[in-house]
Amino acid sequence: MYAKFFGLRHEPFSIAPDPRYLFMSAQHREALAHLLYGLRGGGGFVLLTGEIGAGKTTVCRCFLERVPRRCNVAYIFNPKQTVEELLGSICDEFRIPRAEGEARSAKQHVDALNDFLLRTHAVGQNNVLVIDEAQNLSADVLEQLRLLTNLETAERKLLQIILIGQPELRDMLGRPGLEQLAQRVIARYHLSALSAKETAKYIHHRLIVAGLTRAAPFDRGAVQRIHALSRGVPRRINLLCDRALLGAYAQGVAIVDAAIVDAAAREVLQPRGPRRVRRRRSASHRWRLPAAIALGAVLGAALFAVANWAYDASARAKAPAPAAAPASAAASVAASASAPAAASVPAAAASPAKK
Ligand SMILES: Nc1ncnc2c1ncn2[C@@H]1O[C@H](COP(=O)(O)OP(=O)(O)O)[C@@H](O)[C@H]1O
Ligand SMILES: [Mg+2]
Repeated sequence: MYAKFFGLRHEPFSIAPDPRYLFMSAQHREALAHLLYGLRGGGGFVLLTGEIGAGKTTVCRCFLERVPRRCNVAYIFNPKQTVEELLGSICDEFRIPRAEGEARSAKQHVDALNDFLLRTHAVGQNNVLVIDEAQNLSADVLEQLRLLTNLETAERKLLQIILIGQPELRDMLGRPGLEQLAQRVIARYHLSALSAKETAKYIHHRLIVAGLTRAAPFDRGAVQRIHALSRGVPRRINLLCDRALLGAYAQGVAIVDAAIVDAAAREVLQPRGPRRVRRRRSASHRWRLPAAIALGAVLGAALFAVANWAYDASARAKAPAPAAAPASAAASVAASASAPAAASVPAAAASPAKK
């Protein structure tokens, strides 16, 4: 929508995981190195944790692209499953054949998996199971996963498991009852947020990939504010930058400053606080700006009409006054009242100033 206005070919801050935009910060590189370490075999678990939006899945996709051909990967991204369902998903991911409609018990799944691991091991292949959103795994599923890492030949373990998840995954593994699993973690890495410097580089990198050929549309204060408000989390940086560019575009302003970032943050970032209160507040907050714009427009139009009427009354004797303006004011009221979503972006979004 706004790309052309800023001299870009694409919108640079989509939250879709587009590999073209991959930015390898030192932390992302380190996280990738940990996942690749998991490919070396030897059994046990590799753990990658990080806040929502830190880039875990992005790194994981990058990892999947680098997996050598002699390595089979099962990738599970929805682990809210029972033990039987998860074992079935793992077998499906490894393309272990089963008869159509055949229901297998957990033991039958494990036997089929064991058979597959032995067969592939015999021809020099490695097998890796990657589970994303692993903080959603239940305790009995985790225990089953631990048992899978027991599958072995005389000289080596047959399955390496990579668990990727939010920080609570670390806490889960610290709980009593999961000590045995925790002892099998051979490498762990916590993907932390970007520093202020990295945030600036990340923003610039995405702008360049999106086709930027002129000066960046964020001034220094804006970038500092983006880092402070996003706390260096890429997903939040994207949300903020995208909305800030939209806001600037709507105002016909070529450079985003800290004030525009603040306005964007009020719209796209949830204020901190207890979850329930936060949700209720943010719901009302979401409507506060459009409501204020609509109310302001109504009051403005009313004042304008009254002033015009007064002016008309006093000036009627001298010369007739033009009557077109109130109609356009009323139209802008109608526009902002009928498009609350667009109005939460600065109201002029529908007709930005062209450069
Ligand atoms: N290293 C990175 N390079 C480019 N974009 C990234 C990077 N890390 C995160 N992002 C952006 O942030 C979004 C959220 O990242 P994601 O990997 O889904 O986070 P997580 O899995 O940790 O919740 C991605 O879709 C992508 O747009
Ligand atoms: Mg993810």
